[in-house]
Amino acid sequence: MSASYEVRGAVAVITLNNPPVNGLGYDTRRGIADGIDRANADPAVKAVVITGAGRAFSGGADIREFGTPKAIAEPNLLSLILQVEASAKPVVAALHSVVMGGGLELALGCHYRVAAPGTQVALPEVKIGLVPGAGGTQRLPRVLGVETALNMIVSGEPVKSELLAAVPGQKLIQKLIDGDLLAGAVAYAAEVAELHAKGGPLPRVRDLKAVHANADGYFAFARNTVKAMAKNFPAPAKCVDCVEAAVKMKFDDGMRFERDTFLGLMLTPESRALRHAFLGERAASKIPDVPEDTPQRKIEKVAVIGAGTMGGGISMNFLNAGIPVTILETAQEALDRGVGVMRKNYEAQVKKGKLKSDKYEQRMALLKTTLAYEDIRDADMVIEAVFEEMGVKEKVFKKLDEVMKPGAILASNTSTLDVDQIAAFTQRPQDVIGTHFFSPANVMRLLEVVRGKATAKDVLATVMALGKKIRKTAVVSGVCDGFIGNRMIEQYSRQAGFMLDEGCTPAQVDKAIEKFGFAMGPFRMGDLAGNDIGWAIRKRRATERAEMRYSRSADLLCEMGRFGQKTGAGWYDYQPGRRDAIPSPVVNEMIDQHRASLGIAPRKIADDEIVQRLVYALVNEGAKILEEGIASKASDIDMVYLTGYGFPLWRGGPMCYADTVGLFNVVQAMKRFARNPNDDQAFWQPAPLLAKLAAEGKSFT
Ligand SMILES: NC(=O)c1ccc[n+]([C@@H]2O[C@H](COP(=O)([O-])OP(=O)(O)OC[C@H]3O[C@@H](n4cnc5c(N)ncnc54)[C@H](O)[C@@H]3O)[C@@H](O)[C@H]2O)c1
Repeated sequence: MSASYEVRGAVAVITLNNPPVNGLGYDTRRGIADGIDRANADPAVKAVVITGAGRAFSGGADIREFGTPKAIAEPNLLSLILQVEASAKPVVAALHSVVMGGGLELALGCHYRVAAPGTQVALPEVKIGLVPGAGGTQRLPRVLGVETALNMIVSGEPVKSELLAAVPGQKLIQKLIDGDLLAGAVAYAAEVAELHAKGGPLPRVRDLKAVHANADGYFAFARNTVKAMAKNFPAPAKCVDCVEAAVKMKFDDGMRFERDTFLGLMLTPESRALRHAFLGERAASKIPDVPEDTPQRKIEKVAVIGAGTMGGGISMNFLNAGIPVTILETAQEALDRGVGVMRKNYEAQVKKGKLKSDKYEQRMALLKTTLAYEDIRDADMVIEAVFEEMGVKEKVFKKLDEVMKPGAILASNTSTLDVDQIAAFTQRPQDVIGTHFFSPANVMRLLEVVRGKATAKDVLATVMALGKKIRKTAVVSGVCDGFIGNRMIEQYSRQAGFMLDEGCTPAQVDKAIEKFGFAMGPFRMGDLAGNDIGWAIRKRRATERAEMRYSRSADLLCEMGRFGQKTGAGWYDYQPGRRDAIPSPVVNEMIDQHRASLGIAPRKIADDEIVQRLVYALVNEGAKILEEGIASKASDIDMVYLTGYGFPLWRGGPMCYADTVGLFNVVQAMKRFARNPNDDQAFWQPAPLLAKLAAEGKSFT
């Protein structure tokens, strides 16, 4: 039963009961509809209250029903709201905690609304590339005024009930109720029942008018503002259209306009991508063979080994979440340097007004430093972030195994080394896991959680939950070279290099992929991260993976000492103190010479080909990663790319994008690339999973 019914005096109370947020799934809608019918049929009932059990009035549509027939089964939300609005007995919505999306639309279909202070009210549909689809854009302007309503609809951000109740002339909230909301709502319902006993129509939001003194001027202004902000997303501009319809059309025509707009947006790749990312974020925390009720270990104290670039950033995440951290180093000066950098980062936040100075001090007070393993033995979890050398990791993990209390989680931040080998340095491989943070670790949202062969399920469940606590998007990866993200990016980088060999300049490649929507092209990215890092990895792998062909131009660049921004020169030139990438004649000359030495005649490569080769390289490697079980679902790969690699959000990640293009088309393009003798022809054989899905007309997601 997803909505309960009881009668208190002369008032029927319908309580939504569909945890966690009373999503308006089929059973809940049915329950409300039955309750309204029952109340109207019962002569003893004079009014109705609708409220929600637990932590919400209602968070809106039930995301578990997205895309299933149940989502639109009658009574769908539109029909339910019509039924509520048409009730012969007054219906009062008792709002508390969370009132969002369809939940707010349902409340707007009621005749009256009372609210607890602090209630978060929002129409967040724009965040998944939609407009509200059950009257939100038509009713909200009628009760809140055009400008306040449009701001809420375009931003999707929640606004507290007491602020809304203070909007001059508003008709959204008739009464704020401190204390017992339900008792207050029932009393209020009894009062209005009395009022209407003498007859007279019930107030319906649809009968109000949405007016603006200078509608044309205002909507022109709103359109310009929204266009500048929304760039690649169509939904915000459509919100403006819908609110304008609320002002200029009759109610039912406006409703039809909203419905058509909603359905049109549903089909756009942008909305598809945003919904994919929204669901993908939630899906990432679900691991097929690790049940949600897996017991977790408690993590109240954390230790970090190494106070370098990553150790400092990693520590900040825990301090921010109120979890004490002890950092261990080999020398006092390394500790001082590391803590100095952390302080500088926090101070920059304080200066920008993003952090209060007392908060800053509170956070730093949770930090301890040490040179002795004795001081960390009680930590519930330790994260190693020392040099990327197996020998160093071995020493550290053997020591950790010796000193750490039983049950402590031992994590490594390694980006390229074998987590299973690291686990084997200990007598407790079940407690070992990879936590691959991205740089800067206090800023980047992505956390790849690397599950070793022996990693215990409760360790995995604990680290995933901890990821959420420190506000990361945690995605599980199996053990392989580069895990999900870097293994794929290697193929992308190789393609970028081959295109230089064939006739492109770094700037041409970067421009094309940035136009596609990447935050930064591969060469600007290399200059930012340091080209020497990849150089070192390639040197180390020269023997292990001799079969992997790549353009030598990246090595030649490093041999010129051009490591990137940090040396003032990389693929581009940089002026002192500035980050603008200036095309470099010296580098272009080096590329030309290298091309000549390979005997390749340069050709002009179109932007389309550049984008396809870069993105489909990700897709093909992603398909292999899926097939090998390194990632358990395509959306996990997309979350890695959206949160860690600057893949454009409105394209939903590489796998979602491939689905949008159509896997048949993707495979056809790969076959073309496989005929290019200057490319890695073997790589472009479509991964078996990709070939199979394409042949069956299926998609990744
Ligand atoms: N820098 C990145 O972008 C990045 C991203 C993801 C993962 N990683 C990984 O994170 C780890 C650390 O990288 P980093 O960039 O922070 O390196 P770094 O060189 O900046 O810092 C390493 C720190 O570890 C300390 N250290 C070395 N041996 C130690 C030992 N035995 N005991 C205690 N401390 C010791 C060093 O003094 C140094 O301060 C590496 O495994 C690296 O692959 C780095």
